[in-house]
Amino acid sequence: MTLPSESPSIAAPTTTNGIVTRGVVKSFGVGDAKTFALKGADFSASEGELHLVVGPSGCGKTTLLSVIAGTLVWDEGEVEVFGTRLNGLDKGSITEFRRRHIGFIFQQFNLIPTLTLVENVSVPLLLNGVSRREAESRSAELLGRLGLGGRERKRPTQLSGGQQQRVAIARALVHQPRLVICDEPTSALDRETGHQIMDLLAGVARAPGRAVIIVTHDPRTYAYADRLTSMEDGRVSGVRHGAELKEFLSNHR
Ligand SMILES: Nc1ncnc2c1ncn2[C@@H]1O[C@H](COP(=O)(O)OP(=O)(O)OP(=O)(O)O)[C@@H](O)[C@H]1O
Ligand SMILES: [Mg+2]
Repeated sequence: MTLPSESPSIAAPTTTNGIVTRGVVKSFGVGDAKTFALKGADFSASEGELHLVVGPSGCGKTTLLSVIAGTLVWDEGEVEVFGTRLNGLDKGSITEFRRRHIGFIFQQFNLIPTLTLVENVSVPLLLNGVSRREAESRSAELLGRLGLGGRERKRPTQLSGGQQQRVAIARALVHQPRLVICDEPTSALDRETGHQIMDLLAGVARAPGRAVIIVTHDPRTYAYADRLTSMEDGRVSGVRHGAELKEFLSNHR
């Protein structure tokens, strides 16, 4: 599956590096209630690859994704996305960077209930200055390719969990971001749709200058990985690729 052609209004950064976090610490709460979700997370992802992140519930996966996406302010450490150091950017610049270059599929979908499906998917394009007409046409086309043709004018509450998840995926891909970040993209999907979505995400990941990072508990997704990062208790505890990844996959069929 290919994606719609790139809007000329969405410029890509000129650097070709991947995504790196160094020693990232993130706490929530204060005093006795303070908990550390990340305790020095060192993570890296290269362009042209599909990265899976696995680990037990509560180990910090969603927190790490939110830091990389710039939606959560962290306490300590360095974050770099395609050569742009997020530490050095003010809030407005991080928002602008995310708007142009990052697509995020949230664990809870985060669709806007008062908007139709096509309006939900159009949001990233409108934020990037694409006209409403063009945005809705591109959004409707992508929804069609994700099996939601004819439902464009429905609202999210009129859909099943799996259908809502596909709308969230369309919204994350429609502006052709360089980095797509997904928190459990296949959890609510049946087997066949899950594989279609992973094929689509793998196609996006392996394009030059792009990358996809997926948090997953779903062993059906493992076969798509170019690199698999394990997390434990707020840290990256292991990275598998090449022969080591193949061996891991052969034990998880
Ligand atoms: N907004 C928040 N306020 C307080 N604590 C939080 C908040 N978000 C996360 N945490 C805590 O940080 C830790 C890591 O949470 P996180 O959501 O990153 O885990 P996760 O690995 O994504 O888990 P899951 O697989 O269940 O989604 C947990 O102990 C969680 O309770
Ligand atoms: Mg999570």
